[in-house]
Amino acid sequence: MHAIKDEVVTPVCRASDGIGYNDSVHAIEIKELFKSYGDLKAVNGLDLTVRTGEVFCFLGPNGAGKTTTVEILEGYRKRDSGTVSVLGYDPENGGRAFRERIGIMLQESGIQTQLSVREALDLYRSYYSHPRSTMELIEMVELNGSVDVRVEALSGGQRRRLDLALALAGDPELVFLDEPTTGFDPAARRNAWHTIDGLRSLGKTIFLTTHYMDEAQALADRVAVISDGQIVALDTPDRIGGRNTTTSTIRFLLPSSISVNDLPTLSNMEHLDADMSAEGESVTIHTSRPDLALYVLTSWSVGKNIELSGLTVSRPTLEDIYLELTEENN
Ligand SMILES: Nc1ncnc2c1ncn2[C@@H]1O[C@H](COP(=O)(O)OP(=O)(O)O)[C@@H](O)[C@H]1O
Ligand SMILES: [Mg+2]
Repeated sequence: MHAIKDEVVTPVCRASDGIGYNDSVHAIEIKELFKSYGDLKAVNGLDLTVRTGEVFCFLGPNGAGKTTTVEILEGYRKRDSGTVSVLGYDPENGGRAFRERIGIMLQESGIQTQLSVREALDLYRSYYSHPRSTMELIEMVELNGSVDVRVEALSGGQRRRLDLALALAGDPELVFLDEPTTGFDPAARRNAWHTIDGLRSLGKTIFLTTHYMDEAQALADRVAVISDGQIVALDTPDRIGGRNTTTSTIRFLLPSSISVNDLPTLSNMEHLDADMSAEGESVTIHTSRPDLALYVLTSWSVGKNIELSGLTVSRPTLEDIYLELTEENN
């Protein structure tokens, strides 16, 4: 399968602020990006544009190339070829001015574990000219009860929350979050989502990687599904992989006095392609026009005063689409 290219949008350049960068509506632009480790093509021809102010999610299985791409964008890893622009900089030689404007939550952080939470935050804050206050950071990630606890004594989830606070220490306009909620319990995940949502409302751009479907669904403005170093789909969570237009499934239980042959024929109606099957008392209909299929079905059942119990209509979940896309590519 070929990588799907993002649409081309002409960047609108604002006046330079004199620091030597040219701001544009695109926070990130990647063209024809390649990175191999020996024979392994970890990133295999990636084209991508991330808009300023969006939460962009990289969704893919382990080994898909998410971390490699993110590290190239952060300036932590050299690419083999391709062009990369992050906030107008080439991350390979962005220098301090570039680092001041981005926040990074690595998949595995290298923070000194003897430091307390407060000391770690103060250390990171000292790298920036306009940092957030320590207390503000602690409150953002809800580590209020652990301010003086050493990093080594934190639980996995607390440690990850500290990583998030460290990424936000410099009040960055672009934040990279590589699997930010791995190891969180459900309540902590919700809180992290709330924090990330709050950053979006502040106009920050967020580049997030995850292998959690619900995280992508809850947070992302747009999702790119990555598999074997290539983007296989890119859209909003509701539309990705044709999710909004693909076949729906209608299910109900066959009323006790009725046999399958008594059910109305769906194929008689114009524009209605429907495929009905029954297994035991459970009836399943696959159709691209659930509105029409339900019209035929319920007109019939209401007319006959028959109840269709257990009636549901469902579209593929993001998980269904994701599995389809990533399996197709393997
Ligand atoms: N430093 C490295 N040296 C060799 N292979 C690597 C290295 N980092 C990652 N890989 C390999 O590159 C592929 C992509 O890895 P990675 O970018 O970490 O993917 P993801 O973050 O999606 O799990 C994997 O097959 C991984 O084993
Ligand atoms: Mg990774």
